[in-house]
Amino acid sequence: MSAGTDVDALIARMSWTEKLAQLQISYRPRLEDAAELVRAGIGAVFWPRSAEATNELQRVAVEETPHGIPLLIGLDVVHGQRTIFPIPLAQAASFDPAVAETDGRVSAAEAASGGVTWTFAPMIDVSRDPRWGRVAEGFGEDTLLNAVFGAAKVRGYQGSHLADPGSILACAKHYVAYGAAEGGRDYNTVDMSDYRLRNVYLEPFRAAVEAGAGTVMASFNTVAGRPVHAHRQLLTDVLKEEWGFAGAVVGDASGVVNLLAHGIAEDLHDALVQSLSAGLDVEMGGHVVAPDGTSSLTPDDLTVERVDDAVRRVLRLKAALGLFDDPYVDPAAELTAPTAATRAAALEAAERCPVLLKNDGTLPLPERPLRVLLTGPYADSTDHLGAWVQSFGEPAGSLADALRVERPDLELTVLPGASFDGADPGRQAEVTRAAAGSDVVLVAVGEPSHLTGEATSRADLRLPGDQEALVHAVADTGVPFAVVLANGRPLVTSAWIHRAPAVLEAWHLGTEAGPAIARILTGAVNPAGRLPMSFPRSAGQVPVHYDHENTGRPATTGGRMQPLVHDIGLEGPGNVEEWFTSKYRDLPLGPQFAFGHGLSYTTFGYGAPVLSRTEVSADELRGGATVEVSIQVTNTGQRAGDEVVQLYVRDPVASLAQPVRRLRGFRRLRLEPGESATVTLALGWRDLGFWTGRGNEFVVEPGRFELHVGPRLDATQQCDLVVT
Ligand code: NOJ
Repeated sequence: MSAGTDVDALIARMSWTEKLAQLQISYRPRLEDAAELVRAGIGAVFWPRSAEATNELQRVAVEETPHGIPLLIGLDVVHGQRTIFPIPLAQAASFDPAVAETDGRVSAAEAASGGVTWTFAPMIDVSRDPRWGRVAEGFGEDTLLNAVFGAAKVRGYQGSHLADPGSILACAKHYVAYGAAEGGRDYNTVDMSDYRLRNVYLEPFRAAVEAGAGTVMASFNTVAGRPVHAHRQLLTDVLKEEWGFAGAVVGDASGVVNLLAHGIAEDLHDALVQSLSAGLDVEMGGHVVAPDGTSSLTPDDLTVERVDDAVRRVLRLKAALGLFDDPYVDPAAELTAPTAATRAAALEAAERCPVLLKNDGTLPLPERPLRVLLTGPYADSTDHLGAWVQSFGEPAGSLADALRVERPDLELTVLPGASFDGADPGRQAEVTRAAAGSDVVLVAVGEPSHLTGEATSRADLRLPGDQEALVHAVADTGVPFAVVLANGRPLVTSAWIHRAPAVLEAWHLGTEAGPAIARILTGAVNPAGRLPMSFPRSAGQVPVHYDHENTGRPATTGGRMQPLVHDIGLEGPGNVEEWFTSKYRDLPLGPQFAFGHGLSYTTFGYGAPVLSRTEVSADELRGGATVEVSIQVTNTGQRAGDEVVQLYVRDPVASLAQPVRRLRGFRRLRLEPGESATVTLALGWRDLGFWTGRGNEFVVEPGRFELHVGPRLDATQQCDLVVT
């Protein structure tokens, strides 16, 4: 059977149980177990770890089941299969969607060569809460970044044709608002207005569907009391009917079973009826239906049309993948290790993601001979792969080894000095002694990969273990030093950041982490990443994000104030207006490092922004008209480097309170010293309006819009556009 043919005829021949068997994916990994499930008729399984084993399962499906329907073979290939790319949060920091697309292409080729047909990625959960460990897997706090990077990832995985050998199905997850879990605690309750849901959390999924994502995964959380696995309005009304999503909705692992704990289902039968009727198409992992499709479900519980619709969605995907024509892969061509080309791609990606948070000139290391002390748990660690890698991901080397290769002339001393979970002052004394004999100290600290990703919420966002003490010990020596951070979420750095002359946020960068970091520290690469998530000053400040609403009482200064003597009607000491504004009394205003922040080893100058027109009507915009904003950028420094031009929009007066800024466009470009280029970014209907939260109403309200363009939030130039 070829793509798009005969699916309905096949469904007409299938029994009720055969159909239900197609609507599940099992994650029992052992081949013998999986073969039994497949023989019974199950439609999808997790990857059994080799091309040969996968072929065997496909053979059983095709030769030993009544209709010979091939399998979907699923796996979480989130930022690499063999060649591991930077974690998605780091990829977002590149502000270069090509990084995500390349990861998708390389990952798809590697995974598909072993028989994988379906990845559970990209994750496009906007999150403004770094306590939530899963921020490592997504693209940060901004809706546009998640939309653009998610779409790039979908294109990368799926290629131009799903049936091509290097393409696999993508899965946009977790639909929806999972990143808004209360308290940043994984799996926790979500309750929010439709206004916020539409404008912030649904948009990346709309973009992924527009990009052609074949599947969408339901999220574990509730939205306004209803678990998404059983949320008809979200799964059917919005996703399938309003957006026209023709692919399949898969549940998350045991998400249907979890409906019992949520307290909305009497028993598994009830849970299954509620979720399939709501629009879930495939159940993951719960074995709520037997592998052969036997269950308590009858056509009285669920219409045959709904079941047929779900089966049709699954079979069409199998057809589009070309599995009915040929479900097998060539074991001799299985890619089981990185190649020189995939390593080069991963290195280039890894070099594009680090963010230079601070620098007084300590970085890059000067080219003359130097005595360098490399300390911290990440000095010698190879734990750079990050949150979502399988055991067969290609390991990374250490920063110490990479520095030896990159700069063999350095006199390098390596001492861990601290650990992720302990305190040993003796080790710090050793570091202090070694620092005294060094020209510069590199302090490589962070979070281990296992503290990031699923089920790794943290209430304390500081460096774990005795790492902060190590930074202080090094600072106390007076020797110049730079801090390298390897982690999967924004950290609270306030206890030591003021003491560090230079700080590079390197994230978990994957297989090529060591060389990428070494090349940035030594200046072979000029860093140009920008933060995709704000770094809070304290966990108590969370959520702190750039696109907040103004409130009725915005603060202009934060922190300590002269006490107010509160005496209605009389003047007293203190500033009454400022006292009653929205802020924390014990913190300065705003985050430690804002969204979009990132420095370079060179400098850039900007011309004045120019608009292609200063007035446009809402009708023209709805008809597809755009307004272009152009700005000239010049590399005014001595080194080649990349700049990231950012365009924010503010709608100062609207019928509903708007964010103070919204990122509506960005471009990363490379400039040689002295070179100039003009960047042009277009704004259209979707960029200037908002969802009202009343059904699917989207409006662009006439009035003046402020456009802010520049290298970062606090260095933009404003020009105004009038919408009539
Ligand atoms: C649970 C996770 O939430 C999801 O992201 C993942 O795809 C599934 N497990 C399968 O591993």
